[in-house]
Amino acid sequence: MSRHRLTAAPSPSVRVRAPGKVNLSLRVGPVGEDGYHPLVSVFQAVSLFEEVTATQVSPGSGVSLTVEGPQAAGVPLDATNLAWRAADVLARHVGVEPDVALHVRKGVPVAGGMAGGSADAAAALVACDALWETGVPRSELGVLAARLGADVPFCLLGHTAVGTGRGDLLTPAMTRGEFHWVFAASEEGLSTPRVFAAYDELTGGQAPPVGVEDDTALMQALRAGDPTALGAALHNDLQEAALSLRPDLRRTLDLAREAGALGALVSGSGPTVAALARSRQHALAIAATWTAEGAADTVWTATGPAHGARVVG
Ligand code: C5P
Repeated sequence: MSRHRLTAAPSPSVRVRAPGKVNLSLRVGPVGEDGYHPLVSVFQAVSLFEEVTATQVSPGSGVSLTVEGPQAAGVPLDATNLAWRAADVLARHVGVEPDVALHVRKGVPVAGGMAGGSADAAAALVACDALWETGVPRSELGVLAARLGADVPFCLLGHTAVGTGRGDLLTPAMTRGEFHWVFAASEEGLSTPRVFAAYDELTGGQAPPVGVEDDTALMQALRAGDPTALGAALHNDLQEAALSLRPDLRRTLDLAREAGALGALVSGSGPTVAALARSRQHALAIAATWTAEGAADTVWTATGPAHGARVVG
């Protein structure tokens, strides 16, 4: 009699990577009745990636979530997590049970104004769609993404794009070449709603309306692949609001400029500071300055533009 050893096959799983972003330009209008501010923003995806693995579990298990990475302790592990919500939203949309084990590997600073949580949501949408074989078109995933958060559609799309509305109505932008970035991240995040509230206070709720025509020089610099012109055109309406809550970031900005950065600004609602460098070597030199001066809890170098959410395994 022959004996057979039954080895359980590993559960099917799908691994997806989605990028963090920097706002090359962020223009913020007066708050609307829905509590959101109309934006015009030029987003660029950078090569700091969140990785979400979706693994099949037995029917009725529901969603579960684990997170790894240097700042994982600050990330919620329940249904308030955007990746978890993404699985729920997709399951409801296609009419399947939301049974999946999600594992997130963080590669983007947490609560840093670089859309790390939004990248998790974008990656989870793509991962669950592939795992459940639900075949939802990208355009439809984009609609679900917008329901999850203003930055989620961009993390799905990647590359460089102009966002209007809440920042979720996207038009891809033409760019040439590769840009070198360095980021100074803080242990302590900044709450996005608090920064928008500080902006309302600073502008007395009377911010002028925003328009895409304000970014003509920036779009030209992107098309030409001209980092010097791009550095000069970087702009963030939320910067003063973020600095009012974190005055120490002024020094981080100054240090980058002293180290020859082509431009430096607070990324999105902060507190991450982004500096544009001439080359990878220059990015490393700016990073070394920040580290030597104790101006950041962690420094990260990256290039942009980077791809949107995509299956990697
Ligand atoms: O869409 P998301 O959940 O990322 O936004 C978080 C908060 O940031 C919102 O509740 C709102 O207070 C603020 N926000 C805003 N205007 C935007 C985007 C976000 O006021 N365009």
